[in-house]
Amino acid sequence: MKVLKDSKALRRALASAGNRGRRVGFVPTMGFLHQGHLSLVRRARRENDIVVASIFVNPLQFGPKEDLDLYPRDFAHDKKLLEHEKTDFLFAPLAEEFYKADFQTSLSVKKLSRPLCGLTRPTHFAGVCTVVLKLLNSVMPDTLYLGQKDYQQFCVIKQLVRDLDFPVKITLMPIVREADGLAMSSRNVRLSLAQRQEAPLLYQSLKDAQRRVKQGPRAWADIKQAIHSRLKGLRHGRIDYVEIVDAQTLESVIEFKAGSRVLAAAAVFFGKTRLIDNVLIKVR
Ligand code: PAJ
Repeated sequence: MKVLKDSKALRRALASAGNRGRRVGFVPTMGFLHQGHLSLVRRARRENDIVVASIFVNPLQFGPKEDLDLYPRDFAHDKKLLEHEKTDFLFAPLAEEFYKADFQTSLSVKKLSRPLCGLTRPTHFAGVCTVVLKLLNSVMPDTLYLGQKDYQQFCVIKQLVRDLDFPVKITLMPIVREADGLAMSSRNVRLSLAQRQEAPLLYQSLKDAQRRVKQGPRAWADIKQAIHSRLKGLRHGRIDYVEIVDAQTLESVIEFKAGSRVLAAAAVFFGKTRLIDNVLIKVR
Protein backbone atom coordinates (compact mmCIF):
# COMPACT_ATOMS: atom_id res chain seq x y z
CA MET A 1 0.00 0.00 0.00
CA LYS A 2 1.31 3.44 -0.93
CA VAL A 3 0.64 6.29 1.47
CA LEU A 4 0.24 9.69 -0.18
CA LYS A 5 0.15 12.98 1.64
CA ASP A 6 -0.96 15.40 -1.05
CA SER A 7 -3.32 15.40 -4.01
CA LYS A 8 -0.60 15.95 -6.59
CA ALA A 9 1.31 12.90 -5.39
CA LEU A 10 -1.90 10.87 -5.30
CA ARG A 11 -2.82 11.85 -8.87
CA ARG A 12 0.68 10.97 -10.04
CA ALA A 13 0.61 7.61 -8.27
CA LEU A 14 -2.81 6.77 -9.70
CA ALA A 15 -1.70 7.75 -13.19
CA SER A 16 1.39 5.60 -13.00
CA ALA A 17 -0.71 2.68 -11.71
CA GLY A 18 -2.23 2.89 -15.18
CA ASN A 19 -5.73 3.52 -13.96
CA ARG A 20 -7.10 4.08 -17.45
CA GLY A 21 -9.70 1.42 -18.09
CA ARG A 22 -9.23 0.05 -14.58
CA ARG A 23 -11.99 0.43 -12.06
CA VAL A 24 -11.19 2.61 -9.07
CA GLY A 25 -13.12 2.23 -5.80
CA PHE A 26 -12.85 4.90 -3.10
CA VAL A 27 -13.59 4.77 0.64
CA PRO A 28 -13.28 8.14 2.41
CA THR A 29 -12.91 8.00 6.22
CA MET A 30 -11.80 10.04 9.20
CA GLY A 31 -9.74 7.12 10.52
CA PHE A 32 -9.76 5.20 13.81
CA LEU A 33 -11.03 2.39 11.65
CA HIS A 34 -13.41 -0.35 12.73
CA GLN A 35 -15.26 -3.20 11.04
CA GLY A 36 -17.85 -0.77 9.63
CA HIS A 37 -15.17 1.08 7.66
CA LEU A 38 -13.50 -2.19 6.70
CA SER A 39 -16.75 -3.62 5.30
CA LEU A 40 -16.66 -0.74 2.79
CA VAL A 41 -13.02 -1.42 1.94
CA ARG A 42 -13.73 -5.14 1.42
CA ARG A 43 -16.63 -4.42 -0.89
CA ALA A 44 -14.46 -1.95 -2.82
CA ARG A 45 -11.71 -4.59 -3.04
CA ARG A 46 -14.14 -7.15 -4.50
CA GLU A 47 -15.49 -4.77 -7.12
CA ASN A 48 -12.45 -2.80 -8.32
CA ASP A 49 -8.95 -3.09 -9.73
CA ILE A 50 -7.66 -0.21 -7.61
CA VAL A 51 -8.81 0.59 -4.07
CA VAL A 52 -8.16 4.00 -2.57
CA ALA A 53 -8.98 4.85 1.06
CA SER A 54 -8.54 8.22 2.69
CA ILE A 55 -8.01 9.21 6.29
CA PHE A 56 -8.59 12.84 7.05
CA VAL A 57 -10.22 14.34 10.14
CA ASN A 58 -11.88 17.17 8.30
CA PRO A 59 -11.93 20.35 10.43
CA LEU A 60 -14.59 21.93 8.17
CA GLN A 61 -17.27 19.48 9.25
CA PHE A 62 -16.86 20.12 12.98
CA GLY A 63 -18.69 23.01 14.63
CA PRO A 64 -16.79 25.40 16.94
CA LYS A 65 -17.98 23.61 20.09
CA GLU A 66 -17.62 20.09 18.74
CA ASP A 67 -15.11 17.30 19.34
CA LEU A 68 -12.47 17.93 16.62
CA ASP A 69 -9.60 17.88 19.13
CA LEU A 70 -10.99 14.86 20.95
CA TYR A 71 -11.65 12.86 17.79
CA PRO A 72 -9.79 9.54 18.25
CA ARG A 73 -6.79 8.88 16.00
CA ASP A 74 -4.42 5.94 15.47
CA PHE A 75 -2.77 6.26 12.10
CA ALA A 76 -0.29 3.38 12.53
CA HIS A 77 -3.05 0.92 13.40
CA ASP A 78 -5.34 2.17 10.63
CA LYS A 79 -2.52 1.70 8.15
CA LYS A 80 -2.07 -1.92 9.22
CA LEU A 81 -5.80 -2.61 8.89
CA LEU A 82 -5.94 -1.12 5.40
CA GLU A 83 -2.83 -3.01 4.34
CA HIS A 84 -4.45 -6.20 5.55
CA GLU A 85 -7.47 -5.51 3.32
CA LYS A 86 -5.13 -5.04 0.35
CA THR A 87 -5.84 -1.37 -0.12
CA ASP A 88 -3.66 0.01 -2.93
CA PHE A 89 -3.47 3.67 -1.95
CA LEU A 90 -4.02 5.50 1.30
CA PHE A 91 -4.52 9.23 0.93
CA ALA A 92 -3.82 11.01 4.20
CA PRO A 93 -3.37 14.73 3.63
CA LEU A 94 -2.30 17.22 6.29
CA ALA A 95 -5.01 19.75 7.15
CA GLU A 96 -2.69 22.75 6.60
CA GLU A 97 -1.85 21.53 3.13
CA PHE A 98 -5.26 20.28 2.14
CA TYR A 99 -6.81 23.62 3.11
CA LYS A 100 -4.34 26.38 2.27
CA ALA A 101 -4.36 29.42 4.52
CA ASP A 102 -6.53 31.37 2.06
CA PHE A 103 -9.07 28.56 1.48
CA GLN A 104 -12.53 30.10 1.10
CA THR A 105 -14.79 27.80 -0.90
CA SER A 106 -17.82 26.08 0.54
CA LEU A 107 -20.38 23.84 -1.08
CA SER A 108 -23.78 23.12 0.29
CA VAL A 109 -26.71 20.93 -0.58
CA LYS A 110 -29.41 23.12 0.85
CA LYS A 111 -32.58 21.19 1.55
CA LEU A 112 -31.20 17.76 2.45
CA SER A 113 -28.69 19.28 4.88
CA ARG A 114 -31.34 21.03 6.93
CA PRO A 115 -33.26 18.38 8.95
CA LEU A 116 -32.01 15.65 11.34
CA CYS A 117 -28.30 16.21 12.09
CA GLY A 118 -28.43 19.57 10.30
CA LEU A 119 -30.52 21.06 13.09
CA THR A 120 -27.80 20.70 15.73
CA ARG A 121 -24.93 20.80 13.23
CA PRO A 122 -25.86 23.61 10.82
CA THR A 123 -22.46 23.81 9.10
CA HIS A 124 -21.63 20.10 9.19
CA PHE A 125 -22.84 18.99 5.77
CA ALA A 126 -21.30 21.95 3.96
CA GLY A 127 -17.99 20.79 5.46
CA VAL A 128 -18.69 17.23 4.34
CA CYS A 129 -19.61 18.31 0.79
CA THR A 130 -16.54 20.49 0.44
CA VAL A 131 -14.14 17.79 1.59
CA VAL A 132 -15.83 15.02 -0.39
CA LEU A 133 -15.71 17.01 -3.61
CA LYS A 134 -12.03 17.80 -3.04
CA LEU A 135 -11.34 14.13 -2.37
CA LEU A 136 -13.32 13.03 -5.43
CA ASN A 137 -11.39 15.51 -7.56
CA SER A 138 -8.12 13.94 -6.44
CA VAL A 139 -9.15 10.29 -6.66
CA MET A 140 -11.58 10.40 -9.61
CA PRO A 141 -13.08 7.04 -8.61
CA ASP A 142 -15.66 5.03 -10.53
CA THR A 143 -17.43 4.07 -7.32
CA LEU A 144 -17.68 5.76 -3.94
CA TYR A 145 -18.49 3.53 -0.95
CA LEU A 146 -20.54 5.03 1.90
CA GLY A 147 -22.18 3.59 5.01
CA GLN A 148 -25.85 3.73 5.96
CA LYS A 149 -24.67 4.67 9.46
CA ASP A 150 -24.52 8.24 8.09
CA TYR A 151 -27.63 7.99 5.97
CA GLN A 152 -28.21 11.74 5.68
CA GLN A 153 -24.59 12.16 4.56
CA PHE A 154 -25.25 9.58 1.83
CA CYS A 155 -28.35 11.53 0.65
CA VAL A 156 -26.45 14.81 0.65
CA ILE A 157 -23.46 13.40 -1.27
CA LYS A 158 -25.73 11.67 -3.77
CA GLN A 159 -27.41 15.01 -4.46
CA LEU A 160 -24.05 16.81 -4.63
CA VAL A 161 -22.61 14.54 -7.33
CA ARG A 162 -25.90 14.61 -9.21
CA ASP A 163 -26.15 18.42 -9.14
CA LEU A 164 -22.51 18.88 -10.16
CA ASP A 165 -22.50 16.09 -12.79
CA PHE A 166 -19.68 14.27 -11.07
CA PRO A 167 -19.35 10.90 -12.83
CA VAL A 168 -19.30 8.54 -9.86
CA LYS A 169 -21.52 5.69 -8.77
CA ILE A 170 -22.38 5.50 -5.07
CA THR A 171 -22.74 2.21 -3.21
CA LEU A 172 -24.42 2.31 0.20
CA MET A 173 -23.36 -0.36 2.70
CA PRO A 174 -25.37 -1.64 5.70
CA ILE A 175 -24.55 -0.63 9.27
CA VAL A 176 -22.07 -2.92 11.00
CA ARG A 177 -22.93 -3.35 14.69
CA GLU A 178 -21.39 -4.60 17.91
CA ALA A 179 -22.82 -7.86 19.30
CA ASP A 180 -25.26 -5.89 21.49
CA GLY A 181 -26.56 -3.88 18.52
CA LEU A 182 -24.67 -0.63 19.04
CA ALA A 183 -23.64 0.76 15.64
CA MET A 184 -19.86 0.74 15.33
CA SER A 185 -18.44 4.24 15.48
CA SER A 186 -15.00 5.71 16.02
CA ARG A 187 -16.59 7.75 18.80
CA ASN A 188 -17.69 4.69 20.84
CA VAL A 189 -14.29 4.52 22.58
CA ARG A 190 -15.06 7.84 24.21
CA LEU A 191 -18.04 6.43 26.13
CA SER A 192 -17.66 5.70 29.84
CA LEU A 193 -18.57 2.20 30.98
CA ALA A 194 -22.01 3.35 32.16
CA GLN A 195 -22.67 5.21 28.91
CA ARG A 196 -21.47 2.25 26.84
CA GLN A 197 -23.85 -0.05 28.72
CA GLU A 198 -26.80 2.18 27.95
CA ALA A 199 -25.89 3.02 24.36
CA PRO A 200 -27.51 -0.08 22.72
CA LEU A 201 -30.91 1.36 23.68
CA LEU A 202 -30.55 3.67 20.70
CA TYR A 203 -30.77 0.75 18.26
CA GLN A 204 -33.30 -1.16 20.37
CA SER A 205 -35.72 1.76 20.29
CA LEU A 206 -35.40 2.06 16.49
CA LYS A 207 -35.79 -1.70 15.98
CA ASP A 208 -38.86 -1.57 18.15
CA ALA A 209 -40.32 1.13 15.88
CA GLN A 210 -39.58 -1.06 12.87
CA ARG A 211 -41.49 -3.92 14.51
CA ARG A 212 -44.48 -1.68 15.22
CA VAL A 213 -44.62 -0.56 11.59
CA LYS A 214 -44.63 -4.18 10.44
CA GLN A 215 -47.65 -4.89 12.63
CA GLY A 216 -49.86 -2.69 10.46
CA PRO A 217 -50.92 0.92 9.90
CA ARG A 218 -50.13 3.27 12.78
CA ALA A 219 -49.87 7.01 13.20
CA TRP A 220 -46.24 7.99 12.64
CA ALA A 221 -46.51 10.40 15.56
CA ASP A 222 -47.24 7.45 17.88
CA ILE A 223 -44.28 5.47 16.62
CA LYS A 224 -42.01 8.48 17.02
CA GLN A 225 -43.39 9.00 20.50
CA ALA A 226 -42.64 5.37 21.40
CA ILE A 227 -38.97 5.79 20.40
CA HIS A 228 -38.84 9.05 22.32
CA SER A 229 -40.26 7.56 25.51
CA ARG A 230 -37.76 4.71 25.48
CA LEU A 231 -34.84 7.05 24.96
CA LYS A 232 -36.16 9.40 27.64
CA GLY A 233 -35.35 6.58 30.06
CA LEU A 234 -31.61 6.97 29.43
CA ARG A 235 -29.82 7.88 32.64
CA HIS A 236 -26.56 8.90 31.01
CA GLY A 237 -27.80 10.10 27.63
CA ARG A 238 -29.75 13.09 26.36
CA ILE A 239 -31.92 12.97 23.22
CA ASP A 240 -30.81 15.27 20.40
CA TYR A 241 -33.55 14.20 17.98
CA VAL A 242 -35.91 11.40 17.07
CA GLU A 243 -37.34 11.58 13.55
CA ILE A 244 -39.26 9.54 11.05
CA VAL A 245 -38.72 10.86 7.54
CA ASP A 246 -39.19 9.91 3.91
CA ALA A 247 -36.05 7.95 2.95
CA GLN A 248 -35.55 9.99 -0.20
CA THR A 249 -36.50 13.56 0.64
CA LEU A 250 -35.78 13.38 4.41
CA GLU A 251 -39.02 15.29 4.98
CA SER A 252 -41.30 14.29 7.86
CA VAL A 253 -43.76 11.59 6.90
CA ILE A 254 -47.44 12.14 7.45
CA GLU A 255 -49.25 9.43 5.55
CA PHE A 256 -48.78 5.73 6.32
CA LYS A 257 -48.48 4.62 2.70
CA ALA A 258 -47.88 1.04 1.57
CA GLY A 259 -44.73 0.71 -0.55
CA SER A 260 -43.10 3.85 0.85
CA ARG A 261 -39.62 3.79 2.39
CA VAL A 262 -39.04 5.69 5.58
CA LEU A 263 -36.04 6.31 7.80
CA ALA A 264 -36.35 6.21 11.56
CA ALA A 265 -33.33 8.05 12.92
CA ALA A 266 -32.15 9.25 16.30
CA ALA A 267 -29.20 11.06 17.84
CA VAL A 268 -28.27 10.98 21.51
CA PHE A 269 -25.63 12.86 23.46
CA PHE A 270 -23.68 10.84 26.01
CA GLY A 271 -21.78 13.65 27.68
CA LYS A 272 -19.99 15.40 24.80
CA THR A 273 -20.15 12.31 22.60
CA ARG A 274 -22.99 12.36 20.12
CA LEU A 275 -24.12 9.01 18.71
CA ILE A 276 -26.43 8.53 15.75
CA ASP A 277 -28.28 5.52 14.42
CA ASN A 278 -31.07 4.73 11.99
CA VAL A 279 -33.18 1.99 10.46
CA LEU A 280 -34.74 1.95 7.01
CA ILE A 281 -38.33 0.72 6.98
CA LYS A 282 -40.28 -0.44 4.00
CA VAL A 283 -43.99 0.08 4.66
CA ARG A 284 -46.05 -2.90 3.56
P1 PAJ B 1 -16.28 8.32 9.09
O1 PAJ B 1 -17.20 8.63 10.21
O2 PAJ B 1 -14.89 7.86 9.39
O3 PAJ B 1 -16.98 7.22 8.19
C1 PAJ B 1 -16.43 6.81 6.97
C2 PAJ B 1 -17.43 5.93 6.25
O4 PAJ B 1 -17.66 4.75 7.02
C3 PAJ B 1 -18.80 6.62 6.07
O5 PAJ B 1 -19.33 6.34 4.79
C4 PAJ B 1 -19.63 5.97 7.17
O6 PAJ B 1 -21.02 5.97 6.91
C5 PAJ B 1 -19.05 4.56 7.20
N1 PAJ B 1 -19.33 3.93 8.49
C6 PAJ B 1 -19.08 4.41 9.73
N2 PAJ B 1 -19.53 3.56 10.67
C7 PAJ B 1 -20.09 2.52 10.03
C8 PAJ B 1 -20.74 1.31 10.44
N3 PAJ B 1 -20.91 1.01 11.74
N4 PAJ B 1 -21.18 0.46 9.50
C9 PAJ B 1 -21.03 0.76 8.18
N5 PAJ B 1 -20.42 1.87 7.72
C10 PAJ B 1 -19.96 2.74 8.62
O7 PAJ B 1 -18.27 9.75 7.39
C11 PAJ B 1 -17.16 10.25 7.52
O8 PAJ B 1 -16.12 9.60 8.13
C12 PAJ B 1 -16.81 11.63 6.98
O9 PAJ B 1 -17.93 12.46 7.06
C13 PAJ B 1 -16.27 11.61 5.52
C14 PAJ B 1 -17.29 11.05 4.53
C15 PAJ B 1 -14.96 10.81 5.46
C16 PAJ B 1 -15.95 13.07 5.08
O10 PAJ B 1 -15.05 13.66 5.94
